[in-house]
Amino acid sequence: MAAYNLLLLPGDGIGPEVMAEVERVIAWLNAAGPHSFATESDLVGGSAYDAHGQAISDAAMDKALAADAVIFGAVGGPKWDGVPYDVRPEAGLLRLRKDLELFANLRPAICYPALADASSLKREIVEGLDILIVRELTGGVYFGEPKTITDIGNGQKRAIDTQVYDTFEIERIARVAFDLAATRKNLVHSAEKRNVMKTGVLWHEVVSQVHAREYPAAELHHILADNCAMQLVRTPKQFDVLVTDNLFGDVLSDIAAMLTGSLGMLPSASLGAPDAKTGRRKALYEPVHGSAPDIAGQGLANPIAMIASFAMALRYSFGQIESADLVESAVASVLEQGLRTGDIMQPGCTRVSTADMGAAVVAAMERIAG
Ligand code: IPM
Ligand code: MG
Repeated sequence: MAAYNLLLLPGDGIGPEVMAEVERVIAWLNAAGPHSFATESDLVGGSAYDAHGQAISDAAMDKALAADAVIFGAVGGPKWDGVPYDVRPEAGLLRLRKDLELFANLRPAICYPALADASSLKREIVEGLDILIVRELTGGVYFGEPKTITDIGNGQKRAIDTQVYDTFEIERIARVAFDLAATRKNLVHSAEKRNVMKTGVLWHEVVSQVHAREYPAAELHHILADNCAMQLVRTPKQFDVLVTDNLFGDVLSDIAAMLTGSLGMLPSASLGAPDAKTGRRKALYEPVHGSAPDIAGQGLANPIAMIASFAMALRYSFGQIESADLVESAVASVLEQGLRTGDIMQPGCTRVSTADMGAAVVAAMERIAG
């Protein structure tokens, strides 16, 4: 029986509420065996700032580096609007991504049949949708230097962000995309802005080379990121795997999330390179939604993205495909039963709280597992 160590970082806002529902799923899996998960929790984001004056403490970072996987909730909220930029809540998440070298962010946008009417788009446009966004996560404008605001006199300031990519960063994310595509429809769209950005020119060139050299059997389409945004709401089912940089991936994944009915439905996995000796990847799993401070603490949050993020951990970190399938089937089943949190509420359905939804998912796991 394998025992794995999970570091839980619930964070701020609705983070702790949705994390509590994952803990229910973990407890069920531990009781069912054969694998077991030991969990430890720590602070991140605004809650870490309140306790330590930092968005994540060095001690929590050490735990994250040692863990088999990090399960992350959400960070941020108006309470911390005034804190210094370097210690703002989001800095905790960005440090985790950077220090764990989690360069590959997988964001699957799947439209559950029961939710096809919850999307803001028509049922026929989104029904059966299954897109995998592969977002580069440790480069680009998020981390490029210089990143400054300077006083340039005459009451003027100048702000600079730097978009920078090296060949190896594009190659490794392209390989992740092509490898995943090979397990699906083997169709990859690569989005950039080569018509205005040098990083887009290099991105296009390197993705084309990786394709020609290593993955000639895959179908590759290059698409400008603005056109991609438009195509995502026009005919989203034309996409299978979509690979893009850090900033475009941030924006395009929020669009893709809404196709599925709600931001509360979209999970994500952030993976590092396989370790040369053990083959294990460092990994962090988090819902794409944020901390939603407006609904925090009221039992209104949808825990499905958080629970589905844990299912991705079962799949990508622990190779427990059956358990991952079980969690995902349980989610589909509670949606079929008509249970809905407020964000995906539809006429004729039953509105439930965060905790009721979590309990219903576990009950469905129990039922499906027999
Ligand atoms: C995301 C979030 C983060 C990002 C924020 C919280 C820093 O929007 O994971 O999509 O911009 O990457
Ligand atoms: Mg985002």
